[in-house]
Amino acid sequence: MTVSIDQQQEPKRDVTFRVFRFNPQVDSKSYFDDYTISVERGITVLRSLNYIKEHVDASLSFRAFCQAGICGSCAMRVNGLSKLACTAQVWDELAKCREPGIIKVEPLRSLPMIKDLIVDMDPLVSKMTHYSNWIDSTMPEAEMGRKEFLISEEEFERYDKATDCILCASCVSECSILRANKEYVSPAVLLKSYRMNVDSRDSIHDLRLSELVKDHGVWDCTHCYRCQESCVKSIPIMEAIHGIREDAIASRGAKDTSGAKHAEAFMEDIEKKGKLVEATLPIRTNGIVWTLKNLLPMAVKMIMKRRTPPPPPLVKSSKGIKIFRTMFREMSEHVKEDQKSHKK
Ligand code: SF4
Ligand code: SF4
Ligand code: FES
Repeated sequence: MTVSIDQQQEPKRDVTFRVFRFNPQVDSKSYFDDYTISVERGITVLRSLNYIKEHVDASLSFRAFCQAGICGSCAMRVNGLSKLACTAQVWDELAKCREPGIIKVEPLRSLPMIKDLIVDMDPLVSKMTHYSNWIDSTMPEAEMGRKEFLISEEEFERYDKATDCILCASCVSECSILRANKEYVSPAVLLKSYRMNVDSRDSIHDLRLSELVKDHGVWDCTHCYRCQESCVKSIPIMEAIHGIREDAIASRGAKDTSGAKHAEAFMEDIEKKGKLVEATLPIRTNGIVWTLKNLLPMAVKMIMKRRTPPPPPLVKSSKGIKIFRTMFREMSEHVKEDQKSHKK
C-alpha cells in the first residue's frame, strides 16, 4: 500500500521500509514487513515509522521519546548500522540502501529482543550496576547539600566528552566482542567506568578497577574501533578504554592480571623484535601451569599438523628494527609524560 506522509510542496519519493517483525506471543520466528510510503526530503526514519504506525500498521512496535537525539531510546539498526532513528534522514539513508529504494530497519544486536524493534536494556543496566557506574562521593554525608563540590576545568576536560553519552546502546550493538561473548563488559560501560574513575570526587576507583580487569573486562577488547565509529555522539570511546588499561597497568594490584601481563609481553616482543614471539606468549601471560593445563592438547594437535610457531631463537627481528626501536622508545616516553601530566 502506498500512502502520503506529508502535505507540503517538496518533491516526494516512494520509499519502502523493510522492517524486522517479531512478536514472541504469536510468532515462532522473525520476519520482515515491507511498508511503502511517500516521503519528502527532510523526513527522518523515526517520523516515517511514526507515520506507518499511525496510518498503516498500528501493531508495529518501537521506542522513542524526545525525537531530538537526546534521550537515546530510538536506537535501532538502519541499513545495517546502529544509529538513532530520530536523527537518521531518509534521504541520506536512500543513498546507502543495498536494494535501491528499500531502507532496512532492524533492532539493536547483542541485547535480548522484546518485540519488533524493541530490545531489553536490562542486561546493560545490570552491567552498569556490576561495574559501579556511579560516583561514590568522598564528601562526608553531613556536608552534602551544604556546599558545592567543585572540580577544576582541566579535570573536567578529561571526561567532558564521556558525559555526552545518552546510553542509546548503538556501540553495544556494534561491538564485535559482545556478539561472541554476551558477558563482555561492553563499550558503553567501559566509557562510564572511565568517566567515574577519573573523577577526583569519587572514592571507589580501586573497587571499580579491580572488577574491570577481571575476565570479560577491559582486556577482552580487541581494539576494533567499531564502537567509536558508530557512537551517535562521536565520543572517543577508545581513549576511555586505553585510559582504563593504562590505569590498570600503573596500578600494582591490577598488574597481576593475565590481561596486563599479556599487554606487557606483547609490548616487550614488539620493542625487541618488531613482531610477536607467539610460542612463549601464553606462558608469559598465564604461567606454565595454566598453559600446560589448557593449551597442551591444542599444542600437540598443532605439532602433528606441523603448524607450530617458530621457537624464540628462530624468530628473526623485523626489517628496519633499529629505526623502529628508536620510534617505539620515543613513543613510550611521550606516553609516560602524558600520564604524568594527567596525574598532576
Ligand atoms: S573496540 Fe573493543 S569495545 Fe569497541 S567495539 Fe571493538 S571490541 Fe568492542
Ligand atoms: S557511547 Fe555513544 S553509542 Fe554508546 S551508548 Fe553512549 S552515546 Fe550511545
Ligand atoms: S527519540 Fe530520543 S534520541 Fe531519538
